[in-house]
Amino acid sequence: MKPIVSKDSIVYFGQECYTALNSYLEKSNHSKIFILVDSNTHEYCLSLLMSKIETEYDTEVIEIEPGEIHKNIETCSGIWNALAELQADRKSLIINLGGGVITDLGGFIACTYKRGINYINIPTSLLAMVDASVGGKTGVDLGNLKNMVGVISESEMVLIDTEYLSTLPVNQMCSGFAEMLKHGLIQDIGYWEKLSDLSQLELDDLNQMIHESVMIKNKIVIEDPTEQNIRKYLNFGHTLGHAIESFYLTHPEKPTLLHGEAIAVGMIMESYISKELLSLTNNDLQDIGDVILATFPKLDIDPSDRQDIMNLLIHDKKNENGNILFVLLNAIGEAKYNCTVSNDLIVKSFEYYDSL
Ligand code: GLY
Repeated sequence: MKPIVSKDSIVYFGQECYTALNSYLEKSNHSKIFILVDSNTHEYCLSLLMSKIETEYDTEVIEIEPGEIHKNIETCSGIWNALAELQADRKSLIINLGGGVITDLGGFIACTYKRGINYINIPTSLLAMVDASVGGKTGVDLGNLKNMVGVISESEMVLIDTEYLSTLPVNQMCSGFAEMLKHGLIQDIGYWEKLSDLSQLELDDLNQMIHESVMIKNKIVIEDPTEQNIRKYLNFGHTLGHAIESFYLTHPEKPTLLHGEAIAVGMIMESYISKELLSLTNNDLQDIGDVILATFPKLDIDPSDRQDIMNLLIHDKKNENGNILFVLLNAIGEAKYNCTVSNDLIVKSFEYYDSL
C-alpha cells in the first residue's frame, strides 16, 4: 500500500511502517523514546511494536487508564510529571500507541511539553487509523465538552498496521466504520457505495478501504490544514453527534456510547436536515438511514433529553458569532459547510430519527 504524504507527515501502511520507523530512528538524533499506551494497548499491542522496533535508544513506557473519561487535563498533568521525572528533554520522542484518546492526548502532550517535542502516531483502533491519527488535531476534553483544548500540529509519521485490529472488539470496529461512511458521504459516492454493501466486503478489503479513507481525509486536510473552510466537511454528523456523545458521557445511567455510535446518529439526523434544507433526495436519505442502521443499533433518545442535548450545541467548535453552523449534504458525496439550521428543524430531525 503506497504511503500517503501529508503536509508535514507521512502515513505508512503494513510492514513498511516498521522499515520507515526504524530508518527514521536510525537517522534521527533523539535522546530517549517514550511510548504512551493505555492498559489495553499495553496488554494487546505493545509486544508487537517492541518486536519490530530496532533501536539503541532508551525506551520508557507510560501507561494511562483507557477511555474517553480520561481524556482530560488531569491525565495530561500526570504524563507531564512522569516525563519530567524521567528526564524527558526536548530531544525526546513520544510514540502514541493506541486509539483516538491516546493519539489526541499524546499528540497534545508532545506539542506542549517543553513547548513541543517530536511524536509519532501508531493508531490501534479503526477510528484512529482513518481519522484521529491523521491531520494533526490534538487535544483533550474539558468536562463533558469534546476536544475543547488542543492544537493542530502533525506527527512525524503515522504507522497503520491492521494487525493491531485483531484484538479490537466489534463495537470499536463499528465506531471507526462510522467515520469511513462519513468520508464517502462528504466526498466520494463511489466509496460510499462500496462501503454500503458490507456483505460484499472481505476482511482483506479492509486495508484498501482504510487507505481510501486516509486519502480522502488527507486531500481535505492538505487543502485546509487549520479548518478555515473545507476541513469543516469532516464534521458532518458531528454537530449533533458530539452533543449526543457529550450528553451520554455525563449520564452514566444511560447506555455507554462510543464516538462512532454517536456520529452515526448525528449523520442520520443531519441527513434529514440536508433533505429539508438542501437538495439531498428522499431516496438518498432513506439509503443513508438503511446503511447506518444495518451496522449501528438504533439509539433510544428520550424526548425529554432533546433540549439538554440541543443546549450543548452552543459549544460546537464550528460556531461563529453565536451561530450554530452545520455541515450538510447537497447530495451523497457533496457536502456544504456553514449552514444555519433553525431549532424547529433540529427538533424535527430528532423526531425523524425516532420514527425509523
Ligand atoms: N476529525 C475531524 C478532523 O480531523 O478534522
